[in-house]
Amino acid sequence: MAIPVLLGITASIAAYKIPELIRLLREKNCEVKVVLSFGAKEFVTPLTLQTLSNNPVYEALLDASAENTMSHIALARWAQRILIAPASANFIAKLSCGIADDLLTTLCLATQAPLFLAPAMNQAMWANPATQHNFKTLLSRGIQFIGPTEGVQACGEFGLGRMAEPEEIANQLLFSIEKPLLAGQKILITAGPTQEALDPIRFLTNRSSGKMGYALAKTALALGADVTLISGPTALSPPPHCKFIPLKTAKEMLSAVENEIEHHTVFISTAAVSDYYLPSPALQKIKKEKTTLTLSLEPSPDILSLMAHRMPRPYCVGFAAETQYSLADIQEKKIKKACDILVVNDVSREDIGFEKEDNALTVLTENEIIHLEKTSKMNIAQQLLKIISEKIKEKSNVL
Ligand code: PMT
Repeated sequence: MAIPVLLGITASIAAYKIPELIRLLREKNCEVKVVLSFGAKEFVTPLTLQTLSNNPVYEALLDASAENTMSHIALARWAQRILIAPASANFIAKLSCGIADDLLTTLCLATQAPLFLAPAMNQAMWANPATQHNFKTLLSRGIQFIGPTEGVQACGEFGLGRMAEPEEIANQLLFSIEKPLLAGQKILITAGPTQEALDPIRFLTNRSSGKMGYALAKTALALGADVTLISGPTALSPPPHCKFIPLKTAKEMLSAVENEIEHHTVFISTAAVSDYYLPSPALQKIKKEKTTLTLSLEPSPDILSLMAHRMPRPYCVGFAAETQYSLADIQEKKIKKACDILVVNDVSREDIGFEKEDNALTVLTENEIIHLEKTSKMNIAQQLLKIISEKIKEKSNVL
């Protein structure tokens, strides 16, 4: 049976990509009904949308002829998923305040269906504290966001605010409908960098943005798992409905993981933990002198290795950020860390890895090497979690 998806389109230049989104959704067995906000039809014509969706396009809240057949309440009830793409800053603001002044905002208030938003706007508008506040309010109500992504914008600026690509939107929407692969699993994820103080002003850290670990956390939640996310300092908002433990240093991360590990069935160590730290950071700012500054650093605890060598222990998945490696090197690393899966991230590539929206990974399981081609971190998180769930199932069948 086709999946009823109500697609709301708001006024943004990204609306020109929506005919392709409708095509993809229909290809993936969705029935699509389109609702336009005031102003959206300046960017994409109702006739195009009607032809591609094979359904009438709805615009007016108080349309006498439409009210007889399909009122806003009936549309809100019909939908199994409501997707707003593109979602403008204005629409996000109205939704967060509960304003219902047109058909689209009214049916968003009236629906029981899960809501998905794919924001699209200028990067400064997305970064504006008002938009960020509205975004967090909607997140806390369980509304799910697909994107925005980073890149060159229609206005010529560069930054975070571009609408996710239609394929990504379609994949994420449908992923949420699939059977919850990870129901019953309790997944502990570390993400982001650690910060090791040198003095009250400076610290040692690395380029991890947390994007890969947070994508895994969001996806694991969408797949029905209970998630605990332990994170070093990042600029990201934690996904709603997970247990979130923010911290700074490798030692703090070790003690948080030690406190949590026994309550979890899977441990995914995505964090880029500092390998060294300064045991006694200077209490006052280190003054600039003409001589060389020598710091004597100690190795940090290897959290993954310590956890993976415990018995009993959860299913352990390590990441390896590498710039140069051979198969023998990574196989040796997997054995040393004692993890069930080691995921290799080639961070010498400019287009993936640290900070980037996309990633490509090589997954070493107990008996296979699987290459995951370059795609968004959300898509790659879906693929990796699918592999993990299959491997856990295989393991429990063997035991
Ligand atoms: O955060 P993003 O910007 O999205 O970037 C993602 C990423 C590149 C950080 C991520 O994909 C990644 O590769 N994470 C692992 C980074 C890393 O620390 O690699 P490593 O080879 O140094 O460590 C191997 C494993 O041991 C990792 O699972 C790490 O979490 C763990 N480790 C390392 C050192 C340490 N002291 N304790 C640890 O537990």
